[in-house]
Amino acid sequence: FESQLSADAIELGQYRHYMQKEIFEQPAALSATLEMLEGARSVQPGLFGANAEAIFADVNRVLIIACGTSYHAGLVARYWLEAIAGVPCVVEIASEYRYRESVANPHTLVVTISQSGETADTLAALQHAKNLGMAHSLAICNAPESSLVRETALRFITRAGPEIGVASTKAFTTQLAALYLLTLALATRLGRLDAVREANALQALRHLPAAVARVLELEPEIKAWAERFSDKQHALFLGRGRHYPIALEGALKLKEISYIHAEGYPAGELKHGPLALVDRNMPVVAVAPNDTLLEKLKSNLQEVRARGGELYVFADADSEISESEGVHILRLPEHYGSLSPLLHVVPLQLLSYHVALVRGTDVDKPRNLAKSVTVE
Ligand code: G6P
Repeated sequence: FESQLSADAIELGQYRHYMQKEIFEQPAALSATLEMLEGARSVQPGLFGANAEAIFADVNRVLIIACGTSYHAGLVARYWLEAIAGVPCVVEIASEYRYRESVANPHTLVVTISQSGETADTLAALQHAKNLGMAHSLAICNAPESSLVRETALRFITRAGPEIGVASTKAFTTQLAALYLLTLALATRLGRLDAVREANALQALRHLPAAVARVLELEPEIKAWAERFSDKQHALFLGRGRHYPIALEGALKLKEISYIHAEGYPAGELKHGPLALVDRNMPVVAVAPNDTLLEKLKSNLQEVRARGGELYVFADADSEISESEGVHILRLPEHYGSLSPLLHVVPLQLLSYHVALVRGTDVDKPRNLAKSVTVE
């Protein structure tokens, strides 16, 4: 009901669907979320709440809890928190964590991520963590008045604006921006980031809206790819490192709105199962930014090609990988270092949107799904 109300109040304008509108709003959503960085050379802990400095000083690990797309944002953040801040991090699916007998450590920062702030499992999992004695909590949330925000000691409100499409898009990228800021704040506190590197990281964040806008220009090519997916039953999404969660997110988007069975897999795990499924009827999407894992990924892709699998590769301008029979390549305009997941998710959102359009499914309200799952 609530989303119906807001849906009526928000004009679609030039767009056909809310999901499409929200994908294209990402540069603006990121600008709004990062507005407070204007001119800043460092991330102040105060961004996360009045007590953040004291709490950050007492934590030496992070536990991230979320569901759905928000869980995927948490998975990306784990790579950042460990590599950049040197903080051990685990990421938990809320519905599992809330019932698990786990080992608690009071020096844990419990980070809950939620677009709505009303997801029942996430709220219950936070309560579970508190009951286990973990009092340091932070919500990354798009709804400032939500239950989740009321329950945590610290908060960061993303400013994506109302998200109506059931499949989350702009909430995800703004969550990632918030998680990157958290990473920088913890890294600085732990002496892992000098002033120059921090200023450079902030500069890269500030440039993100423009970088995402350039990726959105790839839409016509992605549309052409979408035609080729529309009659498929299955698809496999591969990624490595911090782009493995992006492969998971690409697969989730495709299954949610086009009803094509899709699985995300870490490319190195291909040989332990999914390779058996590969044939010319199963398109394989690869997230292939020009990072240190590209060479490894390329040999995984050869394994797919050798079994007749058709490859759709999202590379970077300078990824050394070339088109050949059965290997289609789309290049993002620039490689974006550790923030690259924020760019590489965008073409996957567009791909699922256009596949759904061709298949004629209800993009904004996929069958059996709800925008916000407030019951268990
Ligand atoms: C539902 C939505 C997803 C969302 C998930 C978590 O399944 O359809 O788009 O990612 O809930 O929602 P939250 O509001 O907690 O981020």
